[in-house]
Order: sequence, then structure tokens, then C-alpha cells
Amino acid sequence: MTDRVQVLFVCLGNICRSPTAHGVFRQAVRQAGLAGQIKVDSCGTGDWHVGKSPDRRAVAAARGRGFDLSDLRARQIEASDLRRFDYVLVMDRQNLDDVNVLWREHGGTRPQLFLAYGDACDTDEVPDPYYGGEQGFERVLELITSASEGLLADLRRVVR
Ligand code: 4NP
Repeated sequence: MTDRVQVLFVCLGNICRSPTAHGVFRQAVRQAGLAGQIKVDSCGTGDWHVGKSPDRRAVAAARGRGFDLSDLRARQIEASDLRRFDYVLVMDRQNLDDVNVLWREHGGTRPQLFLAYGDACDTDEVPDPYYGGEQGFERVLELITSASEGLLADLRRVVR
């Protein structure tokens, strides 16, 4: 058991998938009364969108399901994140490869696919919705909501 767990969600741009995971999971944590014990953050492997708000399509899709992403700003992953965070959860295998490059060089927490926690998901990657239509963002929310439930169930056994 531990009194504090830090969770980092990682995608490519940190404007679509990982901010969605950030917003969905932090709300689940708050509703579970665990906001003092479970800290949540997100970042991207790339630097193109650093400092920007999430994509407006991601913000709108999340708002439609009651999640607020408006305070989030993109940042790029750093080697120190792998020391700071207990869980480094990536959206797809490209993210996994990219973060594993950092991990092999610097050590720390080994990244894993977020959907490993989504028992009900029919895939283990969250597809990149950036170049697609609105329905891609709905699919992202579905997968992320499901995996968030699985992750929270696991973390309830870890935090006190
Ligand atoms: P994300 O989506 O990794 O889910 O934030 C993307 C955002 C931006 C780009 C690619 C994916 N981009 O190429 O700029």
C-alpha cells in the first residue's frame, strides 16, 4: 500500500488522446474521493503543440460526456517524468517505442499501453483521431472511459 500514486498519460501531440485520458481519469479519481492520493498528468512525445490547449474537437467531445479539458496545456515528455511517475500509460505502439527509447537510456518507470487496463476494449491501442472526423473522438472517449475504470479498480488496491 502507498499513500500517493502518480499517473502520466502520454500520446504524440498531447492535444487529443492524452488530455482526454487526463480529464476523464482525474474526474473518476475525484468522484472516488481519491484526489489526494492519485495525481494525474499528461504529455506528448512530440513538441509541436507545447503550451497549446487540447484540440477543440477533443474538448467538445469530452464536454458532451461531462468532462472538462479546458484548463489543460500541452507539454513534452522529459526523462525526469519516468522517475516522477509510478504509471506511464501510452496510447499506441508508436508512443510505446518512443518512450521506451527514453526509458532504455534513463531508466525509471517502464511505459505500458493504457488499454492493458481496458478489459472490455476490443483493441489495445487508442487510435490517433487527429486527421479524422468527429466520430474518431467519440471512439477515443469510449476506449479511454473503459480503461479508466479498469485502472481505477487496480489503483484502489494500491492506495489507502
Ligand atoms: P494526439 O493527436 O497524439 O492524440 O494528441 C495528435 C495531435 C497532433 C498531431 C498528431 C496527433 N500532429 O501531427 O500534429
